[in-house]
Amino acid sequence: MNYNFDELINRKNTDSFKWDFFQDPEGTIPMPVADMDFRCPEPILQALREVTEHGVFGYSVVPETLKDILQKRLEDLYGWKTEKEWQVWIPGLVPAITASCRAIGEQTDAIITSIPVYHPFHLAPNYVGKKLQTFPMIEVENRWTFDFEALETTITPETKLFMLCNPYNPAGTVFTKQELEQLVAICQKHGIVICADEIHCDLILDSEKKHIPIASLSQEAENMTITLLAPSKTFNIAGLGCSVAIIPNVELRKKFEDAKNGFFPPLTRHSLVAAIAAYRDCEDWRQQLVTYLKANHDYIYHELNGYQGLKMLPLEATYLAWIDASGTGIPNIQEKILQAGVRLMDGKIFMGEGFLRMNFACPKSLVIEAVERIKGVL
Ligand SMILES: Cc1ncc(COP(=O)(O)O)c(C=O)c1O
Repeated sequence: MNYNFDELINRKNTDSFKWDFFQDPEGTIPMPVADMDFRCPEPILQALREVTEHGVFGYSVVPETLKDILQKRLEDLYGWKTEKEWQVWIPGLVPAITASCRAIGEQTDAIITSIPVYHPFHLAPNYVGKKLQTFPMIEVENRWTFDFEALETTITPETKLFMLCNPYNPAGTVFTKQELEQLVAICQKHGIVICADEIHCDLILDSEKKHIPIASLSQEAENMTITLLAPSKTFNIAGLGCSVAIIPNVELRKKFEDAKNGFFPPLTRHSLVAAIAAYRDCEDWRQQLVTYLKANHDYIYHELNGYQGLKMLPLEATYLAWIDASGTGIPNIQEKILQAGVRLMDGKIFMGEGFLRMNFACPKSLVIEAVERIKGVL
């Protein structure tokens, strides 16, 4: 079946964070918050209809079917053999980031992450009263990667948790086996736990790249890692709230459970049936989605990279273009682009001063119009 990702679905006045929150002038193209403007695949919609029609919305438990599906998926896609009891389901991945920061280390300890980075990574340590340590991502051979030397010099005896985003939001990197092995070696040497947010793993745009769950590298890696996953980004069900932490190490799992207990409601039945349908019945939709996103990406890269001082490295994954606008010499460029009718995210939010993040998970016609408006500003 062919899916129509060109369809323009009106999301205005639907209480959408992306379309309604900012109260931008009529006609503004919203490209901030990371959700997609595409209708969910039919199996998800059907599952949601059935639950709604049933009409009783009491508390739910995570069905064994979902745990089985995830377990099989990890083995089929990555050869990672996991146990079902390693899965801890939570209604959102961002709360799991905060819970991990709370769970690992003492109150005086520090949490390290690379920057620029998805903002909850640099905000969460502060939420739980711990110290944030950062080191930079650097450009090597036309892609963003870790500055491993800077990582080694930033680590102190207080560093207890490394927050990893793989694939990387906002720089789009899919880390290689060698990079991940190097990271595990450094963290192991310093006794640092890794919290790996792998929410973008099903959105690999570069067909030469393959996602590797860092925990699947070795038993040592498995033992020191909390892996966070969710079907929400890929299948556009972020508003339903459904994610999972996979924690093989029993002590770490206990710490994580203790840190999260009492803070979150049980997952809703809507989110659970949607997750089952997403992982089980929507692979053809996902493949067509990735092809569509890749075409949007290639268009933006072709049109904007090098245009009047803009610079963009090709993304290996995600639908979030990371554009260096510092070469344009235009101050407050995000504001100027907004005045021209496109809402992008200011890189400052991700500790990436001078950059812009552009969410291109929308019909191509909007991407073309947005690119024209941005070029008009320059
Ligand atoms: C890296 C990353 N983690 C987590 C999330 C959000 O996860 P959730 O909606 O499940 O809290 C996002 C959303 O953009 C993201 O990019």
